Amino acid sequence: NKVVLAFSGGLDTSVILKWLQQTYGCEVVTFTADLGQGEELEPARKKAELMGVRQIFIDDLREEFTRDYVFPMMRANALYEGLYLLGTSIARPLIAKRQIEIAREVGADAVSHGATGKGNDQVRFELGYYGLNPDIKVIAPWREWDLTSRTALIAFAEQHQIPVPKDKRGESPFSTDANLLHTSSEGKVLEDPWEEVPDYVYSRTVNPEDAPDQPEYITIDFERGDAVAVNGEGLSPASLLARLNDLGRAHGIGRLDLVENRFVGMKSRGMYETPGGTILHTAHRAVEQLTLDRGAAHLKDELAPRYAELVYNGFWFSPEREMLQAAIDHSQQQVTGTVRLKLYKGSAWVVGRKSPNSLYSEKVVTFEDDAGAYDQRDAEGFIKLNALRLRLLGRREGL
Ligand code: ARG
Ligand code: SIN
Repeated sequence: NKVVLAFSGGLDTSVILKWLQQTYGCEVVTFTADLGQGEELEPARKKAELMGVRQIFIDDLREEFTRDYVFPMMRANALYEGLYLLGTSIARPLIAKRQIEIAREVGADAVSHGATGKGNDQVRFELGYYGLNPDIKVIAPWREWDLTSRTALIAFAEQHQIPVPKDKRGESPFSTDANLLHTSSEGKVLEDPWEEVPDYVYSRTVNPEDAPDQPEYITIDFERGDAVAVNGEGLSPASLLARLNDLGRAHGIGRLDLVENRFVGMKSRGMYETPGGTILHTAHRAVEQLTLDRGAAHLKDELAPRYAELVYNGFWFSPEREMLQAAIDHSQQQVTGTVRLKLYKGSAWVVGRKSPNSLYSEKVVTFEDDAGAYDQRDAEGFIKLNALRLRLLGRREGL
């Protein structure tokens, strides 16, 4: 009867909207989320109205996205395959959650999205849907229709009076996904992993070569693992991330050219720009350096890749992600402090850190007279017992 479509207002989801109305003869409800992608949302409303949509949802989810998705992930220091800050992956569960809520509100029995059958996003959306409503029907037009090429898609749009933007008339040069945390670009000009990403693909960072010749120093304050202030100014999660994005943009920070393993099995090459997120990740690790015990820190480092893989593969709403989150959040109780960073030509360097909960003891570590804080003679037995195995092995080898 009714289907809730995740609708960006762009060409693809406009075609999907029309296609759903035609193919399923059902009423389509649209949902457009403001996740800080930096696009006007009113045009999406106009487009939906023009296509006869009666129930149009447009929600500003920027604070919820940053506070309840990005920040928990930042506490984990999650990086997929060591490098990717998961900017697209982390947005999908929130979109899915809101879509299921709307379906409940309007009495829809189905949801639909514009992700292709070749990617990760279909998995993330749909694991979210099923996890939050086991009986929901899912319509994934890219896996069903016979619009197998860009050209067929545009022909369909023109046939149905769907406006096609000029830059989409030729082959669209690449596919992007943007939110407050990042912009990702994939496809077309990026498909040959040997070819350098052309300048015009970058949209939210200046080229580090053109960044200011003067470094800029900033501070970030953390409370229990979350950033709360930049240069001493307290900010809400979304405004804080936006502030760091501005700083990162100006200094060309957070560009990444990556070949990654998609959950569906293939490798893909993408380019990511995560200006604020890169600064935040670096700064968070710096407060942890002072405040986490070694055992806790190392265990956390082992959990981080597992956590990242769960987010990447779309298992946000899973018991194992929640278990890891509980452990990670517990570890953050003392992660309070201030980090000083130097932003310069593509990099964010940590140049200072301090914390009221620091485990760092200058008195113990100093190479000067420590006035009995540490007895160097203790190290002899410590090393001897640790060497015992190695010596027994060596003797067996006849050394
Ligand atoms: N490869 C990234 C991920 O799986 C981004 C996917 C969406 N990006 C895009 N340009 N369509 O999280
Ligand atoms: C898509 O397939 O729609 C984008 C790429 C991805 O999800 O991995």
